[in-house]
Amino acid sequence: MKELYVDLNEKSYPIYIGSGLLQQKELLVRFIKSRQILIVTNTTVAPLYLDLVVRSLGEFQVEVTLLPDGEEYKNLDHVNQIFDKLLVNKFSRNATLIALGGGVVGDMTGFAAACYQRGVAFIQIPTTVLAQVDSSVGGKTGVNHPLGKNMIGAFYQPQCVIADMDVLDTLDDRQLVAGIAEVIKYGLIRDADFFEWLEKNITLLLKRDKNALAYVIERSCENKAEIVAEDEFESGIRAILNLGHTFGHAIETGMGYGKYLHGEAVAIGICFAADLSNRLGWLSNEDVARIIALLKLAKLPVIPPKELQTSQYIELMSVDKKNVDGEIRLILLESIGKATLPINVEQSLIEQTLKNYAG
Ligand SMILES: NC(=O)c1ccc[n+]([C@@H]2O[C@H](COP(=O)([O-])OP(=O)(O)OC[C@H]3O[C@@H](n4cnc5c(N)ncnc54)[C@H](O)[C@@H]3O)[C@@H](O)[C@H]2O)c1
Ligand SMILES: [Zn+2]
Repeated sequence: MKELYVDLNEKSYPIYIGSGLLQQKELLVRFIKSRQILIVTNTTVAPLYLDLVVRSLGEFQVEVTLLPDGEEYKNLDHVNQIFDKLLVNKFSRNATLIALGGGVVGDMTGFAAACYQRGVAFIQIPTTVLAQVDSSVGGKTGVNHPLGKNMIGAFYQPQCVIADMDVLDTLDDRQLVAGIAEVIKYGLIRDADFFEWLEKNITLLLKRDKNALAYVIERSCENKAEIVAEDEFESGIRAILNLGHTFGHAIETGMGYGKYLHGEAVAIGICFAADLSNRLGWLSNEDVARIIALLKLAKLPVIPPKELQTSQYIELMSVDKKNVDGEIRLILLESIGKATLPINVEQSLIEQTLKNYAG
């Protein structure tokens, strides 16, 4: 088992990565401060792993909220189901919530934990690649609004993250690949050596080689933990984690939540950012080609959906947390391994990139 730390003074917490972690009762139990525990999961993950987690919690009062599965349910109505369960069962302020699932369950549980009685403890047990390499770490929690992805939320850190790689065995290939988009993102924004490693080892990763997967989860979490430790509330450097996300979120919202997986939309968003960076004279043609080649090798999509018009993309991108005074701001690339902070980009340039993509 590998143990990493997110260093945030009194809010610091460990990330455990390894095999068989859900069988290790004491790993989980030592972070629980009272008898009352609510496990939040969904209808897909519960039949697979809920019993395993409940078995570790024999002596506690364990309740379960079972959410429907899908990005389209990541909203306030369904967070309310978590509050209902907490209130009906008279959960106190020292209760603990456990998020057992992918990024959707993790984001919603964390947000519910941040709000319930102004904050109760929560633990992340991420069960997708995307959640293990990205969403379970760093304390961004929240839900979608019909007009904008993740626009309602809070910064709220978990007590710990338990990433048991064994649970990835039941994940389908499309979901595995979607998680790899965020992995490639780390290489692009600050870790050129990792990007090169991915170019060489992507096939192993797609074959689910255990050592390759473990390495990728660890290195991704290291990157994320370092950025979060430096800038918990995204007043600066943390924004680079949003590479590809402004455009990616526009695709997710515009096409309807759930149509494109988050990681798929981010992959297309990365191509968009690479093209724009190249137009600005930063990223070389060769680097753009390497980026697109790696995404394609990973079997990620690189072309935006044709269903949305340029004007719709612009409109959708104008609802984003990085924007200031309503102006679109984007994370771009200076080179592979070096991202920019958010910058205003002329609308005409964005339009050129969009038209270029639309063919
Ligand atoms: N908070 C953050 O910092 C952050 C970062 C990145 C992404 N996100 C959010 O994360 C979400 C995407 O997360 P995701 O890709 O994990 O999607 P997800 O939570 O929808 O999970 C993907 C699918 O896999 C299923 N699943 C989960 N674990 C499984 C397992 N072990 N075996 C079989 N099936 C399993 C789920 O039920 C779901 O159908 C988005 O809402 C995105 O906005 C948040
Ligand atoms: Zn993301």
